[in-house]
Amino acid sequence: MSTLASHFTGGRDYLAACTLGLPTRGTVRAVRSDLDAAASGRPDVAAASRAVEAARAAYARLVRSPVGDVAIASQTSVMVSLVAASLPDDAEVLCPEGDFSSLVAPFAYAGRGIRLRTAPLAHLADAVTSGTSLVAFSLVQSATGEVADAAGIAAAATRTGARTLCDLTQAAGWLPVDATLFDATVCHAYKWLCCPRGVGFLTVTPSFAAALRPVQAGWYSGDDPWSSCYGTGGTLASDARRFDVSPAWQAFVGAAPALEMFADADITELYAHATGLAARFRAGLGLAQPARPSAIVTWPDATGEALARLTARGITASGRAGRARVAFHVFNDDADVDRALGALGAIRAHGAGGLLAGDGALGASGLFAGDGACAPGGAGRVPGLLDARGTGARTAPDSARHVVALSYSI
Ligand SMILES: Cc1ncc(COP(=O)(O)O)c(C=O)c1O
Repeated sequence: MSTLASHFTGGRDYLAACTLGLPTRGTVRAVRSDLDAAASGRPDVAAASRAVEAARAAYARLVRSPVGDVAIASQTSVMVSLVAASLPDDAEVLCPEGDFSSLVAPFAYAGRGIRLRTAPLAHLADAVTSGTSLVAFSLVQSATGEVADAAGIAAAATRTGARTLCDLTQAAGWLPVDATLFDATVCHAYKWLCCPRGVGFLTVTPSFAAALRPVQAGWYSGDDPWSSCYGTGGTLASDARRFDVSPAWQAFVGAAPALEMFADADITELYAHATGLAARFRAGLGLAQPARPSAIVTWPDATGEALARLTARGITASGRAGRARVAFHVFNDDADVDRALGALGAIRAHGAGGLLAGDGALGASGLFAGDGACAPGGAGRVPGLLDARGTGARTAPDSARHVVALSYSI
């Protein structure tokens, strides 16, 4: 983990990868040199185009998707709109209550009689019926950090013939992901994948791709983009590249090194690291551990007091939907956890072994009562949880589907 962390300049007291990731040293170098080249009169479009393909290939590796099934994009809502535009009239779309608006709103405003139905995330699989055309959900919820039972939802959709669309924006980068479990996935890579904003990816299986109309086609959707600049753009790419939109060049220049770093990383080790820190933080605050470990911790903070305390100590956290939210990533360590707990008054003694709910802790005032966390579980359980199931430990298992089913069903 220290090797990965060495790719970052900062990170101390930054608990907000769920809002915005930090740029890697490689990203900073690449963007600076791209700017220098442009400023000196030699913008390098060919290099930017190579960066786009390097980013696409690295992302494909990371989410275990064939590279031909990956399209580039810039915003989640735009990718989701492509899917919405291809649904039949009067289709029913099922989403979790309170999921991120960029995933939900394109269906709400699709028109043509398209109906949006919502259900609590925990009951999403049960809510899929034979009348459901598409189940669209985030693998990890932005507002709560809850991890969806993706395997259960995918199985329910397969049973009834519904398609699945999964938003990986809050997951890819810390949670092992197998995009091929879903008909389509979307991801904006500026959070856990530490890319500049404006770098997004759509994966789509060939059978679902056949049902999607390339309504956003432009010159980059052509089989050869540089020969597709005029008129109707020539021949569309035969693979998912026909859903490409033209790339935000500089953003992709910065994205390629970050995505290659994450694709090369041992993601199960990163998962154990991030969820281990989150579990330590929850234990320090006396919060129950969720049924499926998450790198994001949220708790009720209607008055904003917890967020204000963190901010006052120079800790970057966030607040969403009346909850305080912290996130733990590769550039964080135990000291970040303890400093945040200290800021919240949740430890008496700063440092080793000091994870005690102290006098004046926000937890003691009952702010955590009713937090939607699931089954209680020991923080120490998390780093070894793959081992504990007797499933082959923390080295990457052979089958990507095995990894995803494993981590999502815990
Ligand atoms: C689950 C999820 N999807 C997508 C986004 C970003 O949406 P967009 O790419 O439309 O800005 C966020 C941002 O917080 C998010 O949490």
